Amino acid sequence: MAIKSLQDLFVHTLKDVYFAERQIVKALPSMAEKASDSELKKLFQTHLEETKGQVDRLEAVFGLVNERPEGEKCPAIEGIIAETEELMSEIDDADTRDAAMAAAAQAVEHYEIARYGTLVAWAELLGHKDAAKKLAETLEEEKSADAKLTRAGQRKLNQQAA
Ligand SMILES: [Fe+2]
Repeated sequence: MAIKSLQDLFVHTLKDVYFAERQIVKALPSMAEKASDSELKKLFQTHLEETKGQVDRLEAVFGLVNERPEGEKCPAIEGIIAETEELMSEIDDADTRDAAMAAAAQAVEHYEIARYGTLVAWAELLGHKDAAKKLAETLEEEKSADAKLTRAGQRKLNQQAA
């Protein structure tokens, strides 16, 4: 798709993040399975359900701006996920692997926070008020997931130090 306007760029970025969310839905189950810390495991499971809701919400956003929900390959998220999976298979120590997964999940969250922050701003600029509201809901969920991961990661590292 040719990008000729901010509206086109907005739709392109929606497709990018739609692709990303669906990749995350695929990646989270094995992260939950590999997490040894029960709280980290629960965090991944909860975020999996939340992410499925974010996929649905994005479909609603596409509808609000009269576009069909479609993904557009996002090499950035594929790279972060590939790196995470590589680390997960390379680290034998459970605590260290948990810390690595929490940190990797935060890289995903920060990517999403950047994307959704931009999408909210552009939706507002373009006059897509309802879409902006929905995108802002997801942005808040991502920020809260990030904060929980920070706490889980810190707890894990503190445990290791003890
Ligand atoms: Fe997400």
